[in-house]
Amino acid sequence: MGTCDPHSYTDLEHGKIKHIELQLFVDFKRKALKGEAVLDFHKGGDGVLDLDTRNLKIDAIYTRDGQPMNWEMGPEEGFMGQKLRIHRPVGTKSLIIRYGTEPQSSALQWLEPQQTAGGTYPFLFSQCQPIHARSMVPLQDTPLVRFTYKANLMVPKHLNAIMSAAPGQDGPGPTKDSKTIQFDMPQPIPSYLLALAVGDIASADLSPRSKVYAEPATLDAAVYEFGEIESMMVAAEDIFGPYPWERFDFAVMPPSFPYGGMENPRLTFLTPTLLAGDRSLANVLTHELAHSWTGNLVTNATMDDFWLNEGFTVWAERRILEKLEGEETFSLEAALGRNSLKQEIERFGEDSPFTCLKNDLKGINPDDVYSQVPYEKGFLFVKLAEQTIGREEFDQFVKRYMNRFRFMSISTETFESYFRHCFPEASETIDLDLWFRGTGLPDNAPVFESEKLNAILALAKAFSEDATCELGLLDQLNATETQVFLSELPQKLTENHCRVLEEKLNLKESGNAEILCLWYGIAIYSGYHSVLDAVSSFLKKFGRMKFLKPLFKALHETATTKELAADLFDTYGASYHPIARGGLENILKGSAQAS
Ligand code: BES
Ligand code: ZN
Repeated sequence: MGTCDPHSYTDLEHGKIKHIELQLFVDFKRKALKGEAVLDFHKGGDGVLDLDTRNLKIDAIYTRDGQPMNWEMGPEEGFMGQKLRIHRPVGTKSLIIRYGTEPQSSALQWLEPQQTAGGTYPFLFSQCQPIHARSMVPLQDTPLVRFTYKANLMVPKHLNAIMSAAPGQDGPGPTKDSKTIQFDMPQPIPSYLLALAVGDIASADLSPRSKVYAEPATLDAAVYEFGEIESMMVAAEDIFGPYPWERFDFAVMPPSFPYGGMENPRLTFLTPTLLAGDRSLANVLTHELAHSWTGNLVTNATMDDFWLNEGFTVWAERRILEKLEGEETFSLEAALGRNSLKQEIERFGEDSPFTCLKNDLKGINPDDVYSQVPYEKGFLFVKLAEQTIGREEFDQFVKRYMNRFRFMSISTETFESYFRHCFPEASETIDLDLWFRGTGLPDNAPVFESEKLNAILALAKAFSEDATCELGLLDQLNATETQVFLSELPQKLTENHCRVLEEKLNLKESGNAEILCLWYGIAIYSGYHSVLDAVSSFLKKFGRMKFLKPLFKALHETATTKELAADLFDTYGASYHPIARGGLENILKGSAQAS
């Protein structure tokens, strides 16, 4: 059993991977990657080496000079996958694994043409965080190991391929209908940041160091929506120092992409649900950009320390927004975050270990307990630290912290002792132990106020009590403010409330997926069934878990729509990402941990 990361079979005493070379043929017909991975280690080793795999078919393993090695697969152990145990001859520094993926490999989603925005070509994308890289490449699937990589992807000639790396030359492929695209990632990354996408992918430059990739059908919309990337980068550099990955390119994925965004270095992935047409949801891009430092440069040691990635990133995201848009936006975003944290703590229960920042997830699938806690409780901790220490000094600390642990993976304990060393007094005032290891939300969590926010909260209260109250303010709300208003309303309202909301907020015309999701949730719980057709099309179109989970949950928990939830899952389930499908199965089974 792995001795270091509860979610990996890696034993660091066997050595660490330093570099990987991939030669992979992308076979859309068989829904499989096929080829080989060359793993180079820091030092020569012998005896047993354990790697992580899941849904991989291993064909052969041999040394650089072609000597076959003995190996065996362990039993299948659910989300952990299967241990691949290799017996190395003395002095083995490299090994070559010939293998293929299976159609159900959980990191990969193979889309039929009708599941793409363009509708003509198939599409493939990966999502490796938290522990799915092992279903794409046999490796040490833990953030404790970092490697550089090179890859040759062999893809159909009429398609394009992108990876979380610098793209190189295109060359001829092994068949007349294929081509080979080269990639080179010279900076060491943890396995969860490996990423690839293949499809009809075009691109447009947004700045000298940033371009957006998308299917041709969504490229123009993406160019507009994310046109402010350079000013975000400049603001981020102000907090963290120079951008460390040369280029910041990003790609809009097809609608089934299960997350809002994924910070693959040099190639962030984004959901097309951000394309609201008015730049109102671009904060997700800001968030993924901030991960270039918090997460990609200084990385959580294991998923037990996930808050180090996400809490710091939400803090940075909001600092960047504050700089670009002002304090009001900061307060609104923080208020939205607080509402979602409150809901999560209620869902888990105040005393639940899943409300702690430091986790102990041995035996638990991190996908099953994904929640807002590491994000929003983490954010509140970092913000409290900033307030206690003072912004100027704290900002200097953040730069030093980034430098000290650059390209390293650290645990909460390592962070804690560094922080205590820098700020012995503030550490006591804040009560680090309570924040990291206590459940629920500590009393000294910061509270945010602003005039606009107070007015919205007052309006939400007045409207909940009386649907005929004065609603003039609603016309002046921007998209974020509208989200705050909706998120403050009780889940269940009267039919009359729903009618007023639908009309006043022009919800039938809204193209903002966040607003729609909040509205559909209220409408479902309130039995306002005229929205159900729109809800069904929304669930048909998008596979982002942030929306699927609450909407399926609302349908499932409401007696009159319980059956509809099951029917919709039967109809659309197959087109959702494997990770999303797993999450929804938990909800429809009524599991306690499901969101
Ligand atoms: N790294 C996460 C996405 C993720 C987390 C994927 C855990 C798999 C496992 C990404 O940076 C993220 O946090 N995305 C958020 C965006 C947000 C908080 C603005 C999302 O997808 O909603
Ligand atoms: Zn994140």
